[in-house]
Amino acid sequence: QEDVFKKVVSHAKEYGYVVQSSEIYDGLSAVYDYAQQGAELKKNIREYWWRAMVQLHENIVGIDAAIFMHPTTWKASGHVDAFNDPLIDNKDSKKRYRADVLVEDYVAKLEAKAEKEITKARKRFGDDFDEEQFVTTHPRVIKYREQGQAILKRLGQSLEREDLADVKALIEELEIACPLSGSRNWTDVKQFNLMFGTKLGASADSAMDLYLRPETAQGIFVNFLNVQKTGRMKIPFGIAQIGKAFRNEIVARQFIFRMREFEQMEMQFFIRPGSQKEWYEHWKEARLKWHLSLGMGSENYRFHDHEKLAHYADAAADIEFRFPFGFKELEGIHSRTDFDLANHEKYSGKKLQYFDPELNEHYTPYVVETSIGLDRMFLAVFSHSLQEETLEDGSTRTVLKLPAVLAPTKAAVLPLIKRDGLPELAHEIVEELKWDFLVDYDEKDAVGRRYRRQDAVGTPLCITVDHQSLEDKTVTLRHRDTMEQERVPIAELKARIGEVVDM
Ligand code: GAP
Repeated sequence: QEDVFKKVVSHAKEYGYVVQSSEIYDGLSAVYDYAQQGAELKKNIREYWWRAMVQLHENIVGIDAAIFMHPTTWKASGHVDAFNDPLIDNKDSKKRYRADVLVEDYVAKLEAKAEKEITKARKRFGDDFDEEQFVTTHPRVIKYREQGQAILKRLGQSLEREDLADVKALIEELEIACPLSGSRNWTDVKQFNLMFGTKLGASADSAMDLYLRPETAQGIFVNFLNVQKTGRMKIPFGIAQIGKAFRNEIVARQFIFRMREFEQMEMQFFIRPGSQKEWYEHWKEARLKWHLSLGMGSENYRFHDHEKLAHYADAAADIEFRFPFGFKELEGIHSRTDFDLANHEKYSGKKLQYFDPELNEHYTPYVVETSIGLDRMFLAVFSHSLQEETLEDGSTRTVLKLPAVLAPTKAAVLPLIKRDGLPELAHEIVEELKWDFLVDYDEKDAVGRRYRRQDAVGTPLCITVDHQSLEDKTVTLRHRDTMEQERVPIAELKARIGEVVDM
């Protein structure tokens, strides 16, 4: 699994998708740049989401709010007081950990022990091995898993009660029972706010303390009344937005899975109080369908319903995806009640209510939100698409089987050789197609190697121009996934590419 993930990271770099930010200065941890292919893939994911959420819904509109917001926003939203991670320092190694992640690492260690028992038994029993039966009866496997559950339960309860001393006690006990860091010298656990601060204004005394937004959602809540009035929106309706968010993540690992600067695609759906259960279920299903429409396999998604809720939610679920490092959160669907609008009303003194003409009454709408990280979606798509295939002749090829609708370059136009007028005809085809699709022209190396390169970049189609093309105005159309080739009239290329790559 680790190897697969390493390949994902190096492939992303090698083919112009993602690189470490400011790499020439040795980079900045958990900050990344998207290179020429990555910027296109990201843009295509953004558009795929925007089209599904805004263009295809009469009652959802999109906005683009500023990253800087009035600082009281974050008081009202609860982020100043509650958007924290519990941190603990190891005094010997001087290393800093997120206390909850550290505890999860101990639990992972127990799970690894259980897995080891299972692997041993599988080897011993061969084909007769009944895993289901083994894990429910083997005393050590049961013990490891029960211990893990109990530890996570205690962690959840302590965090809920804000009992940070118990979180520390738990870590100390675990370090004795199952050493991880090799050191028992810990500081107390402290809450650390994840928001980045900055200043607005020039002179030191008049400057205003600001935060970089940690979620895009608040830009929607403060604009709720503007949009409702100017758009004459009737409840239920939604406001969607895509934009950057910033979090001073302490445990920054797993490439673009957890970043300090990232992009969110969020939609807040405003509804009648009391209808939140129904809309929560609706959006859970609708969002899962959106994911499945990309054809990355229903077995790679699952819901995870939250027991421990964020400070604003009365119900919350994640859509988890099978990343190379296991099932992890990809998107969140949250029932936020009237928490945000009611608090903004309180802090701003402005009425943020809706008059419902059918009920003939004023109320503060409830909200169900869908929130997905664009970069995390990028990682899901990219890592799922990267495949090593063994071909019939025994050779292997690396192919990036991106959903065609998301692929950066839709087709590469390749003259078979660099003379006899083939490059000229290939350029003519590029000129023709570029108004509708992002196409690439490549004449370097033998055509077989160019195919492999386009496979690795993820280009769904290659168009090869040969001598026959000069005579009968046809070309070879090669399909990335099947490697099948067919002869197609140049005049039909636009329609044929459209069939493959259209949403
Ligand atoms: N407005 C609700 C909200 O922000 P969240 O669960 O904190 O909820 C929503 O974040 C989504 O944003 C996550 O499911 C994830 O896809 C993405 N996300 C959150 N933190 C991230 C980070 N540090 N790096 C990349 N993506 C992140």
